Amino acid sequence: MVDLNENKQRDQWGSKLGFIMAAAGSAVGLGNLWKFPYMAGSNGGGAFVLIYLALIVIVGFTLMAAEIVIGRHTQLNAIGAYRKIRKGWGWVGGLGVLAGFVILSYYSVVGGWVINYIIKAVTGAFNTSDMEVLGNMFGGMISGTWTPIFYHALFMIITLGIVIGGISGGIEKFSKILMPALFVMIIMIVIRSVTLPGAGEGISFFLKPDFSKIDFSVILAALGQVFFSLSLGMGCMITYGSYLSKDENIPQSATLIPLLDTGVALLAGLAILPAVFALGFDPAGGPGLVFITLPAVFAKMPMGGLFAVIFFVLVLFAAITSSISLLEVVVSFVVDEWKWSRAKATTIVAAAIFALGVPASLSMGIWDTIIFKDLVFFDALGFLSDQILLPLGGLMLCIFIGWVWGVDNAVKEATNGGKVKFTIAPVWGFVVKYVAPIAIAYIFISGLLA
Ligand code: TRP
Repeated sequence: MVDLNENKQRDQWGSKLGFIMAAAGSAVGLGNLWKFPYMAGSNGGGAFVLIYLALIVIVGFTLMAAEIVIGRHTQLNAIGAYRKIRKGWGWVGGLGVLAGFVILSYYSVVGGWVINYIIKAVTGAFNTSDMEVLGNMFGGMISGTWTPIFYHALFMIITLGIVIGGISGGIEKFSKILMPALFVMIIMIVIRSVTLPGAGEGISFFLKPDFSKIDFSVILAALGQVFFSLSLGMGCMITYGSYLSKDENIPQSATLIPLLDTGVALLAGLAILPAVFALGFDPAGGPGLVFITLPAVFAKMPMGGLFAVIFFVLVLFAAITSSISLLEVVVSFVVDEWKWSRAKATTIVAAAIFALGVPASLSMGIWDTIIFKDLVFFDALGFLSDQILLPLGGLMLCIFIGWVWGVDNAVKEATNGGKVKFTIAPVWGFVVKYVAPIAIAYIFISGLLA
């Protein structure tokens, strides 16, 4: 007899480590390696880092567990999951799908820059530590018209290729090797960076909080970065949790993933900011920071050319394990709700996301005069996702669990019906119900009014 049981089509992670590495693969990406160092650099260094860490502890762990719980409970995509638990709540998942669409459009543009830099590294194009030369090289590349669009297309095609082929086997294997490799590489770069003459100033900038630098925009930026870096607030971890088997330990995974992600972010900061100071570059240099500073560090390392290639390849892989998770959220919705085939859904969604990325890319060059509230289109997309859609998604997630579905039901799922230890469940429930939503709402609304 043919078994038409739907669960047959649903992949599951092959192992506990596989899930953790894939979820960590989604979390660890350009957000850690590219965005975190320059965000810290432009928002006062240590003060930003401190607030970031506080928000990871309060909001990050809590929401990570919350999303995985909903996903595993329902075994459905983001929209379906909310709707299955309570009719009328599907739109919260819908906000997430929209966020995935928006984020991937500019994420892919940056992914394209990384591919371009791999090629530059291979051909030895940036074998110099002259910051002006490196700055012009980066600025010239991203403000070009066709080159960045070409690499943006290439990045999207790689992402599309993996998502079309399904995930569990591919991503899981991919992530299990790449995450540890990335870790080792970053540590080597950190060692070089912190031993550069003059690095000390950068280390204390990064680690010593200067409280006078904390204002509302710093807190809002840190909150947005917590969501972005942990892949939270848009149902990504709901989707990944939906592939998790019923006997895995959610509290443990929800602890480990943020720890790994934060570890990589801090290492990335230590790889980049000390070098920025040592080489006399402005830490508030923005999105170019990593692309301009690291080549200079590599130029000062023995076998730096080789390191440069390996490093940018690893950045690319980290970006891809994240971009597939972004695309998967949108694709799984289209497949479920509009009943498209996976191939058709993936191709059309990826093409649409690519199209939205084109003006984002051009807004770094010929379209840099088109401004939305002080921001070029690329930055406007980032603002919309990080500071509006993700926090709103996170806020609704807390309200949903705390006040609609109920903390007791969520804890039952998180503990596999009481079989798994979740000592801090009462604290978790309190944070989901009161602390996190109030904190997010407060930061979010003040940010919008500012
Ligand atoms: N967390 C990834 C990074 O740091 C990006 C990412 C993947 C993401 N999936 C997400 C961000 C979902 C927000 C929501 O690069």
